[in-house]
Amino acid sequence: MIKIAPSILAADFSKLGQQIEFIDACGADMIHCDVMDGMFVPNYSFGHSMVKMFREHTEKPLDVHLMIEKPERYIDEFVAAGADYITVHFEATPHVHRVLNYIRSKGVKSGVVYNPGTPIDSLKHLIDSVDMVLLMSVNPGFGGQKFIPSVLEKVKQAREIIGNRDVLLEVDGGVTKENAAALKAAGANVLVAGSSVFSASDPKKAIEEIRNA
Ligand code: DX5
Ligand code: ZN
Repeated sequence: MIKIAPSILAADFSKLGQQIEFIDACGADMIHCDVMDGMFVPNYSFGHSMVKMFREHTEKPLDVHLMIEKPERYIDEFVAAGADYITVHFEATPHVHRVLNYIRSKGVKSGVVYNPGTPIDSLKHLIDSVDMVLLMSVNPGFGGQKFIPSVLEKVKQAREIIGNRDVLLEVDGGVTKENAAALKAAGANVLVAGSSVFSASDPKKAIEEIRNA
């Protein structure tokens, strides 16, 4: 079964609490929270105090995607905020293995993220430290970008490494009902969707269409 993780980055920031409740009621399986520091990516979004606020509006898993330099500096804060998954970029720290194990040691699910231009050879060395693998299908920093099709090859590679392990394989960026079927066929089982859900006239229907594509 495919899980859909709407990205709150595409929501109306003037009423985020209500937007979380709305997208939960629309059938979101998890809430994807895009944290940006203006360093690792050329944009800012929100930090751990906002994630803590989101926690008060939903019981669905909070899937916290850290697009920040040296994420090891802030793991404790995101754990305290109530994150269920914390994903860190392979490119953002020289000590990704240590950070992933640290996240798990705090009782939170860990995930490694790869940018579109980063090979995933390291995944075989990290696989026993992760609960999720996140493959970027856009260069991170902004919502509403165009899907980069070469990620499909990496989804297949990641699926081979993951095999039948209890590790989620998530894809993030430019996901639509048009490319969802190919992503599923390649082995993804969690799809992040920002603009294709929040800009839809009927977000509940948009979630169903991506899920059933
Ligand atoms: C990109 C973010 C994505 C983004 C997805 O930096 O990590 O989660 O918000 O938004 P869409 O689906 O609009 O590409
Ligand atoms: Zn994201």
